[in-house]
Amino acid sequence: MSTHRTIIEPFKIKMTEPLHILTGEARQAALEEAGYNLFLLPASTVTFDFLTDSGTTAMSAAQWSAMLLADESYAGSSSFFRFEAVVQRITGYRFVIPTHQGRAAERLLFGLLVRPGSKVPSNNHFDTTRANIEFLGGQAVDLVIAEGKDPQSRHPFKGNIDLDRLDRYCEEHRADIPLGMLTITNNTGGGQPVALANLHAAAAIYRKHAIPFILDACRFAENSHFIKQREPEHAGRAVREIAREIFDLADGCMMSAKKDGLVNIGGFIALRDERWVQGLRNSLILTEGFPTYGGLAARDLEALAVGLDEVLDEAYLSYRLAVTRYMAEGMNRIGIPTVQPPGGHAVYIDAKTFLAHIPPEQFPGQALAVALYRQEGVRACEIGSVMFGKKDATGAFVPAPMELVRLAFPRRVYTQSHFDYVLEGLTELVRDKQQMRGLRIVHEPPFLRHFTCRFAPLGG
Ligand code: F0G
Repeated sequence: MSTHRTIIEPFKIKMTEPLHILTGEARQAALEEAGYNLFLLPASTVTFDFLTDSGTTAMSAAQWSAMLLADESYAGSSSFFRFEAVVQRITGYRFVIPTHQGRAAERLLFGLLVRPGSKVPSNNHFDTTRANIEFLGGQAVDLVIAEGKDPQSRHPFKGNIDLDRLDRYCEEHRADIPLGMLTITNNTGGGQPVALANLHAAAAIYRKHAIPFILDACRFAENSHFIKQREPEHAGRAVREIAREIFDLADGCMMSAKKDGLVNIGGFIALRDERWVQGLRNSLILTEGFPTYGGLAARDLEALAVGLDEVLDEAYLSYRLAVTRYMAEGMNRIGIPTVQPPGGHAVYIDAKTFLAHIPPEQFPGQALAVALYRQEGVRACEIGSVMFGKKDATGAFVPAPMELVRLAFPRRVYTQSHFDYVLEGLTELVRDKQQMRGLRIVHEPPFLRHFTCRFAPLGG
């Protein structure tokens, strides 16, 4: 198979669902109805839904059949013990606390450890991680390397943390740091991996300062496969073994299983030692559920127990990362600039460069996201001035540092011909890009406006 250039899905399809293919007029009508905000589109009007890779996975026959064996007992369900054993085997962590998704794990762990004035360093915190720390009066500190902030840098591990800054930061603020983190892969920075060497060095720094080290492990398998591909001394190793070496470096992890757990809902905290476990289980009971289900049905735990092993299949991981690279390279070839090098779960288009004729205050990222939908029914997500733009004290517009559009790929859902079809359509979009116009916001909620604000297109 290695001599073939065509990427093939390493699975056959047993169950299908229809692809919603609408006419251009119907898409235009849906856009108007949604106020040009793609979050407000009914999913039934979207052909290729690249809004997120979270919870959008297609499950395997093995997962669906495991679900039928679930033991839905309130306490002590045998499904929990099966799930616990898989997490223990993969991570080496003894204590496993299920949660309904990643942010529930964040709320529980930070609720126990973060106080007003606390500081939590990481490469980059994901939005919900940051929000859960800030909600408790703490500070989420991003210390990613400089290359991680440069969209065109081709550094192979742009998720790495800046080790000198981390060491100095820990030295200066030791008393205020209840835990240190690393996000693998670094979603905020473009789904970029962290090198095993960087993980070793960061762990040593946290250990030197006696700071507990917790991984945000929601894309741990993709990160481990990148290590195999890009860190030459690990090329011959099994991904499962690399993953275990990563977990061995930390004191525990939080995981949104909606990504590399290959499930539609679920998450967990896993810890090496017992000191926080009682406190976490107490608050788990208060808000999520009994410690052997944590807000999930037992069938979800069964699906997750199978998914965590399936995701470490190397044929799957090679295919997964090949598709993302294929999409990024395909776009680059026809003149669409993307964050380099391609990350694991998503392609990020640099809309500021691509649509240089649309100024940031007219939201070039949103203009591109709207065009992607209008042109071929693709739903992507603006990560630019709609999401992060602000007004200063005088009311003047302050743009976000980058105007990106994220196409995040659900796992095992779309086929290679779907991806080719999308790329083919993008050629027309590139040809007509000078006709694209910006938008203005006509309705805006007081916070997190990107979810519900409404736009009007600006005239030509
Ligand atoms: N950490 C990272 C790195 C994430 O990417 C996410 C979610 C979470 C934590 C929170 O997990 O959604 O299960 O509560 N990322 C999704 C995304 C939403 O689209 O990137 P959750």
